[in-house]
Amino acid sequence: MKRIVVLSGAGISAESGIQTFRDGDGLWNQYRFEELATPQAFASNPKLVLDFYNWRRKIVVEAEPNAGHKALVRLQEKYDVQIITQNVDNLHERAGSKNVLHLHGEICKARSTVDPEYIEKLDGWELNLGDLCPKGAQLRPHIVWFGESVDMIGPAVEIARTADILIVVGTSLVVYPAASLVVYVRPDKPKFYVDPKAFKVGGLQNLEVISKTAGNGLPELVNRLMEL
Ligand code: APR
Repeated sequence: MKRIVVLSGAGISAESGIQTFRDGDGLWNQYRFEELATPQAFASNPKLVLDFYNWRRKIVVEAEPNAGHKALVRLQEKYDVQIITQNVDNLHERAGSKNVLHLHGEICKARSTVDPEYIEKLDGWELNLGDLCPKGAQLRPHIVWFGESVDMIGPAVEIARTADILIVVGTSLVVYPAASLVVYVRPDKPKFYVDPKAFKVGGLQNLEVISKTAGNGLPELVNRLMEL
């Protein structure tokens, strides 16, 4: 079975009503990530950070997977599909994707502030001050904040190396090390970049740019890949 590796970003969830980060109305055009998405921010104002993630988590809980997520699920009928996502939402999983690796964490999970191995799934959308881990320490969002290490990049690189086909969707490819994954895919393998602002990534061979939304571009691309 051929392996399709997908690198997804915020754009695949845009049509589900979840804001991206760097588009016109993007999150980091409205808020300063330094005050909301760093360990220092959490240390100095934990309630503000927890409220910010509660607000984002409520949107995720109330969102639904869109045609883009569902198209990737259909690929599983013919291919070994490995999704590497920069997104912290769980829409790939809720659509039915089986193999999802989250590079930047998962907003619907919480982690102990004293034991990084302790991770728990949140029932609702709230995580507040006073919500403690079994060791009695405050729980924090299970998110990779700016300045923290992307611990899953190693396994992600190994997956990228094994791709027979690469699909990049809904990412501006400006955040590293996630964006570097495209160079680990073998040069001779076909690559597709689905994004209204997709561009010819420098030096990437066998790349087809599909300047469409995930909701339109992915179903069309999946139809082609199912015919191979
Ligand atoms: N379909 C496909 N792509 C879309 C759509 C859509 N409907 N709407 C927007 N896009 C594209 C934009 O053109 C842009 O290229 O999604 C991309 C969003 O880029 P960013 O907002 O930079 O999001 P992303 O690339 O996922 O950011 C990477 O930055 O802040 C960190 O941790 C955060 O994981 C995030 C990382």
